[in-house]
Amino acid sequence: MRSLLPLAFLVAAQLTSFASPNLVPKPLSEAYIADAAAINIQGATVTADSDLANAANYLRGQLGQGGQAKIHLVKVTSPVGNFETDSEGYVIESTPGGDITISARTDAGAFYGAITLLQLGELKNGQRFVVPGRIQDKPRFAWRGLMIDDGRHFIGKAEVLRMLDLLALHKMNIFHWHLTEDQGWRVEIKKWPKLTEVGSKRTASPVMGDRNKSDDKPYGDFYTQEDLKEVVAKATSLHITVVPEIEMPGHAGAAIASYPQLGNSDIPKYDPKVATSWGVKYYTYAPKEETFAFIDDVFAELIPIFPSTYFHIGGDEAPKTQWKSSPFAQSVMKREKLKDEHELQSYFVGRVEKILNARGKKLIGWDEIQEGGLSKSATMMVWRDWKWAQLAADHGNQIVMSPTSHTYFDHSPGTRPNDPRFDVIGGVLPIEKVYAFEPIPAKFTPEQQKLVLGCQGQLWSEYIYNGAKLEYMAFPRVCALAEVAWSDNTKKDRNWQEFEPRLQAHLKRLDALKVNYHRNDGTPAVTDKLGRGE
Ligand code: ACM
Repeated sequence: MRSLLPLAFLVAAQLTSFASPNLVPKPLSEAYIADAAAINIQGATVTADSDLANAANYLRGQLGQGGQAKIHLVKVTSPVGNFETDSEGYVIESTPGGDITISARTDAGAFYGAITLLQLGELKNGQRFVVPGRIQDKPRFAWRGLMIDDGRHFIGKAEVLRMLDLLALHKMNIFHWHLTEDQGWRVEIKKWPKLTEVGSKRTASPVMGDRNKSDDKPYGDFYTQEDLKEVVAKATSLHITVVPEIEMPGHAGAAIASYPQLGNSDIPKYDPKVATSWGVKYYTYAPKEETFAFIDDVFAELIPIFPSTYFHIGGDEAPKTQWKSSPFAQSVMKREKLKDEHELQSYFVGRVEKILNARGKKLIGWDEIQEGGLSKSATMMVWRDWKWAQLAADHGNQIVMSPTSHTYFDHSPGTRPNDPRFDVIGGVLPIEKVYAFEPIPAKFTPEQQKLVLGCQGQLWSEYIYNGAKLEYMAFPRVCALAEVAWSDNTKKDRNWQEFEPRLQAHLKRLDALKVNYHRNDGTPAVTDKLGRGE
């Protein structure tokens, strides 16, 4: 709803003509006083109730000092007017004296109010004018995520920190960090040092433009635990939860190359290496006690760093070939009375879930983890056919919708330059399709609808080799996904014709931040940046 309030009051500030604020994601309701004088919030004095101090600091950092306006962050415990906020909701009201109040139950709500206020009052010639009015807002979904794969290519701390800022500007609140792959293990584990000495390095990579050709160049890097802590600290201040992912039992080739005893070492021609090509690889962990002890050690070091309730264990694309030919894996199947290797994967995931639960965490994994049976407490990240969402819901599992069809931002954004640097893994996912995404499957019952925590975009990094390419693939599709995840405009009344001009105005905000987004004509915003790190 957008409406114009009657001219109720005048505020002491310069007059400016009314321009639509083009908020992204769109709030639940917004109403402005078209003829009222706008308030210049640059340098405003920000006061806050003590629980909202973090949001206040963020706002002060953005606004600077020395201005006239006053912004109050007020903690509420009951509805504001007749609007019931929730743990992330807020109300912004401009008062006759030119003061602005952001009311919220939590620091997260006040923070999102601050983000909206900054979109309302964009910096132009050293001033930020806000048209007075009232905005009421809260998110549709609790899980508004983006996944970055740091395994295929190492994205690096500076770009990860920058992405956190960009996610926060879109009220996204989950950063799913895919940290291990066949092609690289990217986190320091002190008890198992070869994971980074061996597993973070590969001898070659496929070349951009021809995945069947090798560049024969050594490649590798990893995050120290201090790096991880820095990322989590920044994310926490931006109300983003970092959900780490350690892949198992497949996509584990780099770990197995580091410690071959963790794999199915009793099969013929066993010779694990860090992978140098893309695609689903053959090496999987063995279902050994030694492997489960290793996994517990990894969790023991990472869990204190990541406060997230959820820990992602991957679980996708685990080939069953090695388990079929491993006498040991077959003996586990016999011992546990498992009828096939899918049930062996379920046994593996079940063991890992117990380890995680004992350490106070909830398991989340890709949708394959339900194939051989699954406990009700695991959360399913649905990426393949939507039938897997139905299966999970019928079984009562919580779900994060991450389907290839609408959320795989490693697919081409559309028109792009004829240049190998812009190569993608395959497929096309235009932003219009992202915007049309409805995360709740049509056949879900009202009870099943409650199981959908939200949705997230995926940035698999086979073809994302630096921060500039990451931004080119992420934006502006993240802007569309953020609105799908936050705004309460269900598919019926969400329409591209309304969004497109709002997005065009929003892109100016990304221009100011030099975001290397994909444009309609196929070019990135800042072409020269794509060369960075090649
Ligand atoms: C996936 O794309 N393999 C989750």
